[in-house]
Amino acid sequence: MAEKLLEVKNLTKYFPVKGMKGPGVQAVENVNLYIEKGETLGLVGESGCGKTTLGRTILRLHEPTSGQIIYGGETIYQREYPFERQADGTLVKKSVPHAKAVDMFPLRRKMQIIFQDPAASLDPRMTVGDIIGEAIDIHHLAENRAQRTARIKELLGRVGLNTEHANRFPHEFSGGQQQRVGIARALAVQPEFIVCDEPISALDVSIQSQVVNMLEDMQQEMGLTYLFIAHDLSVVRHISSRIGVMYLGSLVELAESYELNRNPLHPYTKTLLSAVPVPDPEVSRTRQRIVLEGDIPSPMNPPKGCRFHTRCPYATDRCKQETPVFKEHEKGHWAACHLLD
Ligand SMILES: Nc1ncnc2c1ncn2[C@@H]1O[C@H](COP(=O)(O)OP(=O)(O)OP(=O)(O)O)[C@@H](O)[C@H]1O
Ligand code: SF4
Ligand SMILES: [Mg+2]
Repeated sequence: MAEKLLEVKNLTKYFPVKGMKGPGVQAVENVNLYIEKGETLGLVGESGCGKTTLGRTILRLHEPTSGQIIYGGETIYQREYPFERQADGTLVKKSVPHAKAVDMFPLRRKMQIIFQDPAASLDPRMTVGDIIGEAIDIHHLAENRAQRTARIKELLGRVGLNTEHANRFPHEFSGGQQQRVGIARALAVQPEFIVCDEPISALDVSIQSQVVNMLEDMQQEMGLTYLFIAHDLSVVRHISSRIGVMYLGSLVELAESYELNRNPLHPYTKTLLSAVPVPDPEVSRTRQRIVLEGDIPSPMNPPKGCRFHTRCPYATDRCKQETPVFKEHEKGHWAACHLLD
């Protein structure tokens, strides 16, 4: 097996809400996954299911609530779960030791993010050259002015922009070009791991594949490892070696791309797949489109037991009480559903 670059165990992120008792917004709940060096792990799920929060928590741009993050074999964060679940499902705070956490500064260079909204992620008062240059300066990656300028030009070229673009401001660019600037900024520090947070969903369909191809080429050239977040499976299934599916803060299934498409185990994954067009007429004919009833519940007050039970066509009484465990059901294929026990 290839080397694991990143592993998270029981990672949880709640956002406290002012004036409210309890845990607040339970955005990421008990997530377990690993990413191998050089691979792309796709992450899909509906809007608000916690994809961005998970990506940002892994990078510790959000401080986790609890769990463990291991990067390059080193534990960079660890803390016990600071709540006790009562019989009625409510969570009551309990005292746990402080988190063990490393200084992130040296890791910031290795672990980067490409943001979901390219316009909002670029400082409007800075030129594109300075935006990229700032990343180089923070980590002292150029010995002098000439080297810094040369590096900025090289990066602009690498992402398909012109060197004279360095003197322009973000608002003078199209969405696709802004995203290229965001990619150049992430690359400026020669990272190993990049969270690509829906890097193409704000872009015109016509340029989406250009940006995806560019990210794939760069991965090959530089041996990069990606966590690639997207709304739907059709985007990630071509570029990911494995795919994780999230629902309301929980990872419900994870498998190799091909396996997940061929043999989805979790009812929620089945509904997502049923919405993706398939080129094979045989598969297309036999595949039934499943439409979920009801709205996604609020992560402030998620359903007890299986978080999907309010919308799952197969839910039983057990599902309403007991949270299913995320288990390996076939080699390399994990899912959390009582039906599979
Ligand atoms: N800083 C924050 N403070 C409070 N709640 C937050 C914060 N960031 C996110 N949330 C909440 O956490 C939940 C997960 O949000 P998140 O942005 O991670 O979802 P997402 O899957 O990335 O959605 P999208 O596909 O729309 O980008 C949402 O209910 C959101 O409102
Ligand atoms: S555990 Fe129950 S509610 Fe949850 S996905 Fe499985 S069958 Fe549906
Ligand atoms: Mg998001």
